[in-house]
Amino acid sequence: MTVSSVQALCLRETLAGNDDDLARRFFATVAGAIDDAWLVTRLFDQAMPHVGADRAQRALSRLARIAMAVGSRDALVSRRIARVAGLLDRPSALTSPAVVTRALGAGLGAGLDRMRPARDARPGGFDPLPPGPARGFHALAVSSVTREGTDRVLLEFAVPLRLTERFRFAAGQHVVIRGVVGGRTIRRSYSLYTAPGDGRVRIAVKRQPGGAFSGFAVDRLRVGTVLHVSEPTGGFGVPHAGGHHAAVAAGSGITPILSIAEDVLRADPAATFTLHYGSRDEPGIMLEHRVSALAARFPGRLRVTHHLSRAGRLPAATDDVAYRHGRLGPATVADVEADRWFLCGPEALSRAVADALTARGVPHDRLRVEFFDTRDPAPATGPADAAPARVTLTGYGDDLVFTMPGDRHVLPAAVREREDLPYSCLGGSCGTCLYTVEHGEVVMDPDPLLAISADDLAAGRVLACRTRPASAEVVLRFSPGPSAR
Ligand SMILES: Cc1cc2nc3c(=O)[nH]c(=O)nc-3n(C[C@H](O)[C@H](O)[C@H](O)COP(=O)(O)OP(=O)(O)OC[C@H]3O[C@@H](n4cnc5c(N)ncnc54)[C@H](O)[C@@H]3O)c2cc1C
Ligand code: FES
Repeated sequence: MTVSSVQALCLRETLAGNDDDLARRFFATVAGAIDDAWLVTRLFDQAMPHVGADRAQRALSRLARIAMAVGSRDALVSRRIARVAGLLDRPSALTSPAVVTRALGAGLGAGLDRMRPARDARPGGFDPLPPGPARGFHALAVSSVTREGTDRVLLEFAVPLRLTERFRFAAGQHVVIRGVVGGRTIRRSYSLYTAPGDGRVRIAVKRQPGGAFSGFAVDRLRVGTVLHVSEPTGGFGVPHAGGHHAAVAAGSGITPILSIAEDVLRADPAATFTLHYGSRDEPGIMLEHRVSALAARFPGRLRVTHHLSRAGRLPAATDDVAYRHGRLGPATVADVEADRWFLCGPEALSRAVADALTARGVPHDRLRVEFFDTRDPAPATGPADAAPARVTLTGYGDDLVFTMPGDRHVLPAAVREREDLPYSCLGGSCGTCLYTVEHGEVVMDPDPLLAISADDLAAGRVLACRTRPASAEVVLRFSPGPSAR
């Protein structure tokens, strides 16, 4: 999505008058509804000569307000209004029965929304429209919203035909959602929970108490809402391999594991999978129906044990799905043997299980770990008196050259200079920020569970979010791995 900043500025000046926010909202609605740089640019080009006249400006303002009201609820209606506003279509395009019906539905929904106490209406609530474009992100309308209880939601995105290739994914990959909270651009990662190949892009979000995006998603998201979503990224899954696989997942950590399990079982009729899955109680089991359906689809090959931490009645077991009371931990898998291990969920649990497996002699290359809670990544460990470094990040748009303290991680410092760089978790878990060291010296945190492979390390790559400069000049070239296209 690119509309030149000059155009945005012109539009702001021409349209806004006293209502400075109108231009932004109109611009954002149109840009959010049409994910096509050239079309949006053409729309603005055509709209601008007409907005000088008072009558045209008033008409445009009215259309903008309608587009704003329904645009966040129904992408089709919003797109139609935007095209009329941009003089690409005649106004009669809005009177077709299909558009009128959908607009009425969206308008009614928008009215109801206003009456409902809005949990994210407080200052600092999530705004799905980021301030500008970032490479690899696309405006996608939510095409399906399924709520699971009061704290989870399953979302599907409508991927336009021309983006199908870009949204092809490997099992275990995730997308990143970009928006604004309290004036600050934020990014949040969500794993795709289905197996690759069915052409559908689906995520499941679990509410974190007080969480900015998850609260918005669970309470507010509607079909038609447009979100800025990255192309799939990350290297948590592995290329197909037979043998026995085992996974330990807790809470929303089930999402990439489901994708990997389905992929592995589908690809190789001899492969088997053992899943230990921790939840609070039965109603709190995320994607339970999908887990059970998968076990039923691969009888004798996928064995699931649910671990429920809260006391209560245990559901009846089936041949392949068992329920136990108690918390997940290293002891849970003490007697499980597997060729490959996948651990996903809160960092403390995954680390404890990984340590126990390593102590048992499971080699590092058979163990994949992904942490979901990286909001407060470990601070850099460099000496406080380390000299400042001049860092150049290259290979992603224009070179970024900046000076930073030598005791800090590179990426958080770089993102303050340029927010559109590739990153997501900032905690070494998502694998998005792979760079090759081209010049100078750096030190990456010595953590064996970072999302970087031995091959990448051997090739001189680092995760910039967990790397600090160790010489006065450092040049890093962005070089995503094969899985993080
Ligand atoms: C690779 C990857 C894949 C993921 N996949 C999924 C998935 O499939 N499904 C899923 O639900 N999640 C997933 N996550 C987690 C997800 O990215 C978000 O971290 C999660 O949804 C919380 O985001 P949020 O904006 O709602 O919460 P945030 O606003 O980030 O807050 C998270 C928690 O921290 C607390 N908090 C926030 N700021 C502060 C502060 N300053 N001080 C103290 N506490 C604070 C909040 O109260 C909240 O409880 C994944 C994460 C990664 C890295
Ligand atoms: S941003 Fe996630 S690993 Fe660096």
